Amino acid sequence: MAETTNKHLEGELAYPEHKFQILLEEKTLADLYTFDFIPAAENEEKLPVAAFSFFKAGLNESVSSAKKTLIGVGKLEELDLEQWADVLSSTAGKIVKNFKEVKLNIPAIIFRRFKAGQVANLLATAFGNAGYPSELLKSKDPAEKIILQKLFVSVPAAKRLEFQTQLEKFLVIARHINAMRQTQVLPGNFLTPTTMEKRALQVGNQYPVKVTVFDERQLKEMGAGGILAVARGSEEEPRMLVLDYNPAGAKSTIALVGKGVTFDTGGISIKPSAEMHEMKYDMSGSGAALHAIAAIADLKLPVRAIGIVGMVENMPDGKAFKPGDVYRALNGLTIEVQNTDAEGRLVLGDLLTYAEKEYSPDLIINLATLTGACVVALGNYYAGLFSPSQKVIESVQKAAEQSLEPVWALPMGRVYREALKSEIADHNNIGGRYGGSSIAASFLSLFLKKPEKWAHLDIAGVGMLNKSYGVYPAHASGYGIRLLVQIAENLGAEKK
Ligand code: BES
Ligand code: MG
Ligand code: ZN
Repeated sequence: MAETTNKHLEGELAYPEHKFQILLEEKTLADLYTFDFIPAAENEEKLPVAAFSFFKAGLNESVSSAKKTLIGVGKLEELDLEQWADVLSSTAGKIVKNFKEVKLNIPAIIFRRFKAGQVANLLATAFGNAGYPSELLKSKDPAEKIILQKLFVSVPAAKRLEFQTQLEKFLVIARHINAMRQTQVLPGNFLTPTTMEKRALQVGNQYPVKVTVFDERQLKEMGAGGILAVARGSEEEPRMLVLDYNPAGAKSTIALVGKGVTFDTGGISIKPSAEMHEMKYDMSGSGAALHAIAAIADLKLPVRAIGIVGMVENMPDGKAFKPGDVYRALNGLTIEVQNTDAEGRLVLGDLLTYAEKEYSPDLIINLATLTGACVVALGNYYAGLFSPSQKVIESVQKAAEQSLEPVWALPMGRVYREALKSEIADHNNIGGRYGGSSIAASFLSLFLKKPEKWAHLDIAGVGMLNKSYGVYPAHASGYGIRLLVQIAENLGAEKK
């Protein structure tokens, strides 16, 4: 067998570990605090390690001397969180591959502009992402390129305590973001429904999370017709995976439900080939749900959190479901499938029914790379947020602001459901060309008795990116973990 240094090639799903520590500095170097101008180099020989700081110059412009690099943040009055996230991410990218030990100075002026928690969030997320490679399947392990061991961060004394607490939290979260990115980036021949099962069991081994696996036979017994219809055309068996984190004393329950199409060819309604390879990311919702449960358990949040993911591969085949076929969903509704590429909603429908019936959660959040229409509407910058409840919309919006993961509310409801009429069954799975994301969201609501306790996040645009944006790296973005942790944290804080 050919030699390799990369364990992923052997099929092992290694939980990502950061190789570096972030340590808060007690002492700071006076010249590095100077923000307005490029400080003289006279103190440089006193610098024990390479040092980075920020100053007033064009965004991401940098000035380097032997031991020190200054990176511009543009006009401070105009600096927004996204730009600051961009600057931190490119700085992190330079640092992790080139230095073993680095001093990073965050000037007081940055803390006057942003909250300490926001700075800590973006710093931990940027360094966390940069410290873990996404090119997992190179024959030589790309993790070896990352050499950073210690990052010393100096922050103003008054902000140190808050910064430290938030930094610790977001470094834990960063690990799970990277686990999600690993799950996302693995292609369809590595990440199948059964390897996702292994991943779930691994989460169950590492954290106090009970994992239950439903295989094809059990899904048949249960009557999960939506999941089974999509799975028909694939050699890969489907799975529904349930992760239950139930800490003593938990007073509320949240369910995180994820679409896990490990590869979406479109089925018989096959997609054009040019960009089809991107459909390995069609499991991003399941990655977010599964790894957010791990993060919530890791952080020991005082809330019961259930992850429910439906794993299938959507393939065309002699046995595949066909346009016009009718199936019966878990909640008994009959669905005419006029387009086999609108498969995510069939899977999610059953998952939502199961989540509500089995756990009666206080809140259900589902995540799915559901519609191309959502990418048309919002680009790669916001997840589409849908709920019939204004209260739920506002609580997700609040968590999005706190966690710095962007969402944008879009409409759903009766007018869109009208489009889903079928002549021969209860509903059609598609409803015309316009308002596709809202139609899809409205379809999902058919599978809940209490849709007012639910929100749907369409992450088709934010789950996979062509280029990096803010702290999100290109391709496997890891979108959703910070948001879901924040939603769970807020729910836990509501009832105490
Ligand atoms: N997985 C796709 C949605 C998607 C498209 C995600 C682009 C990410 C980027 C989904 O299964 C799909 O194919 N949806 C169809 C629905 C249509 C047939 C009603 C779509 O968006 O075209
Ligand atoms: Mg599809
Ligand atoms: Zn899909």
